[in-house]
Amino acid sequence: MGKMLSEAFLIITVALVLANTVVVKVSGQSLTIWPMPATVSYGQSHLYLSGNFKLSTEYVDSSGILKDGFNRMVSLIKMDHVVDANRSASLLGLHVVISSPNEQLQYGIDESYNLMVPSPEKPAYAHLEAQTVYGALHGLQTFSQLCHFNIKRKVIEIQMAPWTIIDHPRFSFRGLLIDTSRHYLPLPVIKNVIDSMTYAKLNALHWHIVDTQSFPLEIPSYPKLWNGAYSTSERYTVADAAEVVSYAQKRGVNVLAEVDVPGHALSWGFGYPSLWPSKDCQQPLDVSNEFTFKVLDGILSDFSKIFKFKFVHLGGDEVDTSCWTTTPHISKWLKKNHLNESQAYEYFVLRAQNIALSHGYEIVNWEETFNNFGNKLSRKTVVHNWLGGGVAQKVVASGLRCIVSNQDKWYLDHLDTTWEEFYLNEPLTNITKLNEQKLVIGGEVCMWGETVDGSDIEQTIWPRAAAAAERLWTPYDKLAKNPRQVTKRLAYFRCLLNQRGVAAAPLDGQGRSPPVGPGSCYVQ
Ligand SMILES: *[C@@H]1O[C@H](CO)[C@@H](O)[C@H](O)[C@H]1NC(C)=O
Ligand SMILES: *[C@@H]1O[C@H](CO)[C@@H](O)[C@H](O)[C@H]1NC(C)=O
Ligand SMILES: *[C@@H]1O[C@H](CO)[C@@H](O)[C@H](O)[C@H]1NC(C)=O
Repeated sequence: MGKMLSEAFLIITVALVLANTVVVKVSGQSLTIWPMPATVSYGQSHLYLSGNFKLSTEYVDSSGILKDGFNRMVSLIKMDHVVDANRSASLLGLHVVISSPNEQLQYGIDESYNLMVPSPEKPAYAHLEAQTVYGALHGLQTFSQLCHFNIKRKVIEIQMAPWTIIDHPRFSFRGLLIDTSRHYLPLPVIKNVIDSMTYAKLNALHWHIVDTQSFPLEIPSYPKLWNGAYSTSERYTVADAAEVVSYAQKRGVNVLAEVDVPGHALSWGFGYPSLWPSKDCQQPLDVSNEFTFKVLDGILSDFSKIFKFKFVHLGGDEVDTSCWTTTPHISKWLKKNHLNESQAYEYFVLRAQNIALSHGYEIVNWEETFNNFGNKLSRKTVVHNWLGGGVAQKVVASGLRCIVSNQDKWYLDHLDTTWEEFYLNEPLTNITKLNEQKLVIGGEVCMWGETVDGSDIEQTIWPRAAAAAERLWTPYDKLAKNPRQVTKRLAYFRCLLNQRGVAAAPLDGQGRSPPVGPGSCYVQ
């Protein structure tokens, strides 16, 4: 296979030795793919795409995932330029071979792909091979990044052909959190976020649906819960949520739904005040009330019909139990059951876990649950790190799985965290045993919603989420040790996002800062 150029912004000539021993010279070119694939080799020819660039495949595309993905890709590479269809072209289309007919977007499915773009000697097809249609979608994204609009010829061009790219993700869970409780996010905004995730090969949308401030989702089992929405229009119906899941699934993105208990749940009580410890002390949820667990069971039952991902997120963070001890009927219940407040917190979390398990879910919980009673958690728990570094190593040493999101590095609402810090955050820090490394299923960047709504979410997510996306996709030995080595390539990707209509902010300055002055996109 081709020898990979770790970072080739080098204006030098590099010899690439291919498996078939052909030596290809590359000069003055740069790789602009983000995230960097596992293996890339390329040459120095140009070729042009036919104005009628075709998908060719024998794949039985019953739900149109491949065809729709291909059509989206063609529209992405045109970027609304008017292409001159009359020019002669050497690349007629893309031939796609997919081995597995299974389109279930299970956790841990094969997302690998091989992409080959030929030399332009005679009119030909490029080739894309994948185990699953979702691997093929990643291949289409990579293909789209090889394409450029040649403004003189007015056609789409691929430089540095022939290309051979062999690629697969480093981690199976590559997430982005959105928060629709602190601010409602309209459905088109969520869909745009999902589309932009696919450009960086992120594959899990963690939907933090409800919290203290609002409850925007319809729950048929308990129809007054969404009385806790900010307004009647700032709500999602069950059908809306199902549409988000379906939209994401067709793009290879899983939706991890969260209901954060027992803290972060004040808004539940607007519809059902008996879920509050009292009118004056409104969270955590009343642990002494059987109705609390009935409602949770109803929510998770309704979830299981919409959110088909293997995992549900049960939160469990930042639980301040003082309302439990100061509310007479709860403190009486605690005494009767010989529980102090921390034991009651454990009781709540473990009971919630059992309810989720009864609906067929495995569980994600924020790290406080592990920090307080890790050995009591279901073995089907994935512990979600957020407080800081050093947690993942303890979690995996205990044999549980972990998702890394340490707030000092991967919280997008921390505007002073730079893209370089996002890039350098290594999920396997201090984890050396292979069996423990495998328990880190991936990582997630978190876009908490206190200061984010439809007006600024894209530029707060991008480009910093892309820096983390490369960390999660690209093999460790291909990652830059010094982020300065990838600045130009990330700037290129940021401009590509802008060209595709995504409001990604400049690399310079704090998260989501506007450009500081006039200048080319590529140097900001
Ligand atoms: C392509 O050819 C057609 C037919 O000759 C002509 O009408 C059209 O203007 C040409 N398009 C471009 C973009 O040159
Ligand atoms: C609760 O009880 C457990 C077991 O006796 C004890 O270890 C823990 O320190 C107690 N917690 C509080 C907050 O009193
Ligand atoms: C990794 O280990 C080193 C040395 O013990 C320590 O200084 C560092 O804080 C650890 N990093 C993380 C993220 O745990």
